[in-house]
Amino acid sequence: VRVVVIGGGANSEHEVGLASAASVAAALDPTRYEVARLTIERDGGWRSADLPCSFPEAAAVLAAADVVFPAVHGPGGEDGSLAALAALAGVPVVGSPVCAGALAMDKWATKLVAQASGVAVAPSTLLTRAEARTVDSAALAVTVGPMPWIVKPVAGGSSYGVSRVDAPGQLDAALAEAFAHDDRVLVERLVTGREVDVAVLERVTGELVVGPPLEVLNDAAGFFDADTKYDGSARFVLPAPLVPAVAERIDTVARTLFARLGCAGLARVDCFVTPEGEVVLNEVNTMPGLTAQSQLPKMFAAVGIDYPELLSGLVETARR
Ligand code: DAL
Ligand code: MG
Repeated sequence: VRVVVIGGGANSEHEVGLASAASVAAALDPTRYEVARLTIERDGGWRSADLPCSFPEAAAVLAAADVVFPAVHGPGGEDGSLAALAALAGVPVVGSPVCAGALAMDKWATKLVAQASGVAVAPSTLLTRAEARTVDSAALAVTVGPMPWIVKPVAGGSSYGVSRVDAPGQLDAALAEAFAHDDRVLVERLVTGREVDVAVLERVTGELVVGPPLEVLNDAAGFFDADTKYDGSARFVLPAPLVPAVAERIDTVARTLFARLGCAGLARVDCFVTPEGEVVLNEVNTMPGLTAQSQLPKMFAAVGIDYPELLSGLVETARR
C-alpha cells in the first residue's frame, strides 16, 4: 500500500507540520506501507523526498498513491486544501474531507456550529480589518463582556498570533499581531477554567472512539501559548481528573462537534471546564499535532492504541 505523507505547510505552523510528518513516516509499519514523502515549504514550494519539485510533479506523486496522509497543520493543509487535492486526484485521504477541514479551521464558523448544536462557547466578536480600524474597547465590551480578552486570528493554529488583553491599552498591539496572520480576527472573552482536550478516532468500522481527556497545565502567560506548546515546558495530566458528569459532557461535546462539522478519521476537540463544571468549546483541530509525543497519540496510547497502530488505523479507515 503506497502512502504519501505530506508535511510542512506554508504557514506559521510549518515546523510543527515537519515534525508531525517525519514522525508519521517513520512509524508507519514498513511491512505494510510503502511511504513516500512530500513537503510543502514555508513559501509554498514543494519537495518530493528531499528534492525541490514543481507542483505538477508533487501532484503526480500524490495521484499515484493509494492513500494520502496530510500531516500538515493550519491554512493550506488542515483547512481542507489537501483533502480537496486528494479528492480531485481520486485518492483516499486520512482525516476530514474538505468541508469539515474548512469549517474547523475557521474558529468563527466552528463557534456558530457549536452554538447551533447546543455547545457553549466564549462570547466573542468577529472583526474584519476595516472594522478593526474604528472599533474601541468600550464598544467591544458590549458584545464580548469585560476583560480579560483573547485576541486571535480566525484561521490559525498552535496559538500563533494569539494575545491576551487585560487593559484597553493592549488592544491595538493584540489586533496587529492577530491581523499579521489573518484578515479576520476574533476577540473572545477569556474563559476562566481548566483547559481540557479530548480526541476522537474513527475506526475502520466507522465506530467513534473518544480518548481519555487530557488537561493542559498553564504557565504564566495565562493561556497555552505557542512557546509553551513547543518549548517542552507544557505539562499534561492524562487522564484529566474530572467528575463523571463533566467527563460525560466532554464526551458528548467531542462526538457532537465531530459529527456536526462532518469530520472523519481523527480530531482533537479543545475545551475549557469552568469552576462551575460547564464545558465550553475552544476549538476543533482536524489534523492535530501528530508526533508520537503530541497530545492525540498520547491520549490513545494511554488506552492501549499505540502509535503505529493509531497510524495504520487511520490509513485503513481512509481506504475503506
Ligand atoms: N495546531 C496544532 C498542530 C495542534 O492542534 O496540535
Ligand atoms: Mg489548533
